[in-house]
Amino acid sequence: MSEKPTSTVIYPGTFDPITNGHIDLILRAAKMFGHVIIGVAASPSKKTMFTLEERVGMIEDVFSEYNNISAVGFSGLLVDFAKQQNANLLVRGLRTTIDFEYEFGLTNMYRKLLPELESVFLTPSEEYTFLSSTIVREVALHGGDVSQFVPNSVEKALKNKAINA
Ligand code: COA
Repeated sequence: MSEKPTSTVIYPGTFDPITNGHIDLILRAAKMFGHVIIGVAASPSKKTMFTLEERVGMIEDVFSEYNNISAVGFSGLLVDFAKQQNANLLVRGLRTTIDFEYEFGLTNMYRKLLPELESVFLTPSEEYTFLSSTIVREVALHGGDVSQFVPNSVEKALKNKAINA
């Protein structure tokens, strides 16, 4: 187990914005796989606070010192993005049993659409099991302190949005 595997994995999500919970999972994945591509979904139905470019930019900033972690925006189906990136592995996080039910449905659909795409599931550190981007946005919009949930750069970006909201 001393050699690092070379496989590329995709960690997809909307990341509106990226939180310490996502970062925890990404760093775990980066220890297990050769290259982690953070697939930032346009997710137009979510009416995001940050544009796709802003979400990708914030993630690039967080991982600027890691050469095996990159962020790429995509629109359309995740399976098409995976094909485009020549990746046949997805990493998803499981925070609670509710996530499990949802992920089970998604994974079955991904498998129907692209049988060679496999998914692996990681659990985040216990302290992040309650965290979501929606909760962080809510707290920030109402002037609450989100410094323990997001990196400094993201906290600043949230404050800017809150001021201009
Ligand atoms: N720590 C903190 N928060 C986490 C987390 C973690 N480890 N893992 C998930 N979350 C949060 C997310 O921030 C998100 O919060 P939000 O709903 O408040 O924004 C929530 O949990 C749900 O996360 P997730 O299931 O990753 O949803 P998502 O919208 O971020 O991403 C995609 C879903 C992008 C993977 C999925 O919609 C997709 O594949 N889209 C492309 C179109 C497509 O192919 N659809 C599927 C067809 S089969």
